Parts: sequence; structure tokens; C-alpha cells
Amino acid sequence: MENGGSPRNQWRFKRNDDLTQASAFTVRGVLNMVMEHLNASDPRPVIPLGNGDPSAFPSFRTTPLAEDAVCAAVLSAKFNGYSSTVGILPARRAVAEYLSEGLTHKLSPDDVFLTIGCTQALQTIVTVLARPSANILLPRPGFPYYEATAGFCHLEVRHFNLVPEKDWEVDLAAVEALADENTVAMVIINPGNPCGNVFKYEHLKKVAETARKLGILVIADEVYSHLTFGGSPFVPMGVFGSIVPVVTVGSISKRWIVPGWRIGWLVTNDPDGILMKQGIVDSIKGYLNITSDPATFIQGALPQILENTPSDFFLKILNTLRESVGIFCDKIKEIPCITCPSKPEGSMFVMMKLNLSLLEDIKDDLDFCCKLATEESVIILPVRLGFLGIVKVLFYQWCSANMLIFASANLTREKLVSLQGSRRIQGLAPSIICY
Ligand SMILES: Cc1ncc(COP(=O)(O)O)c(C=O)c1O
Repeated sequence: MENGGSPRNQWRFKRNDDLTQASAFTVRGVLNMVMEHLNASDPRPVIPLGNGDPSAFPSFRTTPLAEDAVCAAVLSAKFNGYSSTVGILPARRAVAEYLSEGLTHKLSPDDVFLTIGCTQALQTIVTVLARPSANILLPRPGFPYYEATAGFCHLEVRHFNLVPEKDWEVDLAAVEALADENTVAMVIINPGNPCGNVFKYEHLKKVAETARKLGILVIADEVYSHLTFGGSPFVPMGVFGSIVPVVTVGSISKRWIVPGWRIGWLVTNDPDGILMKQGIVDSIKGYLNITSDPATFIQGALPQILENTPSDFFLKILNTLRESVGIFCDKIKEIPCITCPSKPEGSMFVMMKLNLSLLEDIKDDLDFCCKLATEESVIILPVRLGFLGIVKVLFYQWCSANMLIFASANLTREKLVSLQGSRRIQGLAPSIICY
């Protein structure tokens, strides 16, 4: 090769197509796609109802106790070093105590692995389970990060539906029909994203019994744990750990409204030690050995945050969510082309169903979201986002919006535009949100 010229043949590096494909399936990937349709010359503020992060709104600042705990951890100079692979002991002990509430089999710090948000926890368990020819059962609608991670690890994904007519319960008959001898796990998200549902005790027990019958692990994504504001209380899946091994993933991102702090956990609820016997615990440690750890000072602050947050901080958020859901469900009745078949009871999201026959020049959910972004600067998400590119799409008429951000936009008196204000659907009904 001449100095500064081209290499002799050609450059030998190129993009990783697996990565490009996996990232298109994430919330961020679809969010970016919808946001590309925003009209830059629209002077109105963008109403970002697409993701689960209300922290940008001053009314959703975390508790001062958490902020003080982080500052104290930094100033103590005790947490400047690397942490151990699984996380520092006081933080694991605090998580074990926090998650033991309501469990008959109490957790020990050895059951807890600290992770960089719930994201790394789910990445860890999905990667650990990905052996050649294995498959995993994922909920539809669900959280597309699971599809992305499984796809990247070459773990086959099979979808079972959540049933809208049954408060988004798992279609357990479908789970049984989908599973075979290569199925390793099923995922449930409770409280649900994007459906806003909360599974009842009896249903969770049936999930556990079905998984036991199939010989598979239950991965319980409880990142929205305790964010319930309807009739059904939050029941941790760990309650059923003696029926089937449960891996619970979670974080402080949502309940404390600090998704940027990046601290979460992977916890094994397994009184019979099945995960240990099957080598899963060793594999979890192995994966964490080759990845990075959550910042040590956040781990240092965790006991104080989990143990001493005043209950009125949580109550205020739940009240706001309850109020916001009420307003939303009332207003949406005024719009014939959008319905909200089940009132959300948990998480931060609400599902809306589009009546495409009443919408002019709207092909499907993605088209609706993109045009809403262009015309009204409102960002909501198409629900089939985990399945873009799959021809037969069941949920192509559904969109989801974040209720907490809706509430915070209201509380901060930001100008809220109407969700149905799109030129195409004007005239069908008055604005659904007009403050
Ligand atoms: C269902 C679900 N699981 C996991 C996560 C990731 O959580 P974290 O921000 O703690 O990584 C999210 C974030 O929105 C989520 O909705």
C-alpha cells in the first residue's frame, strides 16, 4: 500500500449485520424512527409520551433522600474502587431484604446480582440461556429488548399472546402449544409494559404451574413493581419460587424515577436450588465476570434508598398516575377512532386501539405514530414495535403512551396538544387532551 493511499485489496472490516438488526427492534430504535418524522419548524414543544422516563419533568424529581444518599456515598470516599462482580455485600443484602417482603422463602444476599439497570439483568439471563437450538417464550405485546437480546444471541424467540379481553392475561394454552424440549424459559412483565395490566395472584400461580409442567424457568420482569394504582395489588412472582424457579429482574429506575442512575438486579427465587444444580448460577456469575458493573457509589447509596424512602414519595406518584389514567380514559371516550379497552392498573403505560376504518389515510399503528409526530409533535409508540418486519402482525392497530409523562406534562402546565389533533382525524371528535 502506498503512503496514505487505499489498501492493496480492500478494507477487511465491515458492519455487524446482527447488531443492526437487533437495534432496530429496541424501543430506542423505533422511537428514533418515529421521532425522525417530527417537523423541525413546528414551534410547539414535543410531547414525549413514548418511553418510560418522566425524570425530565420537575414534578417527577426523585426523593431528596435518594439524592442525599448518592452524595453521601461519593463524599465518604468508600466507594471509589471497583466493586465485586456480583455487587457489594451491603447493597445485595438491602435488595434481598427489599424483595423478601411478602415471600415465605426469604432471599439471601447470595441470591442477588447487581446489574446496570434492569436492562443488564435481562441481557444477562437471556444470554446465559442462549445455547444452540434453544428457544424462549416471550409475551406479545412486550418489551422488545428481549427480542433484540435473544436475536443477537441467536436464541430462537416464540411469542405467546397477552389477551386483551382477559385484562391482558397470558394465553397459557398458547404457551403449552409453543413449548417443546428445547424451550428454556418464558418471560412475564408485571406490572405490564406496554399493556398497563397487573397480573392477579391466581393467574401468576397458573403461570408457575404451567412453567413447572413444561420444565422451564420463569423470568419475571418486575421493573414496574409496586407501581399499581387500580384494584389489583402487585404480587411478586418470587412467591411461586417453590413451584418453579423464578429469576426476577428489576431496578430502581421506575419506582424512584432515576433511570439514569443505572442500578438494577437479577435475583434468583429458587428455594430448591434448581438453578444452582443446573449450572445457571455459575453462568450468571460467568457472564457478569466478562461485563461491567454498576457504579460503586450508586451501589453504596442503595441500602439507604431502599430502606428509608418515605412512603409519601411513592403515594404521590401513584395518586398522580391514578388521576391521570382517569382523565385519559374519560377523554378517550370522546374519540370514535381511538379506544382504551382496559383501564390500566399498573406501570406507566396505556394501550389504545385505533379504528383504522375511521382514520383517513392511516395504514397502521406505525403510520399513525409517524403522522402524529409530524402533525402534532406528539410522540407515542406503535405496539407491534418488537415485530417490525414480520408480515403477519396481530397488534398492528395498537399504540401505547406513557401516562406518567402525560401527567407530568399536565402538572408542569406545559402546553399539551391534542392526541387526536391530527389533521386527518379532526372533526371526528373534540380534542382528547386539552389543558
Ligand atoms: C419492561 C421493562 N424491562 C426493563 C426495562 C429496562 O429498565 P432499566 O432502565 O432499569 O434498565 C424497561 C425500561 O423501560 C422496561 O420497560
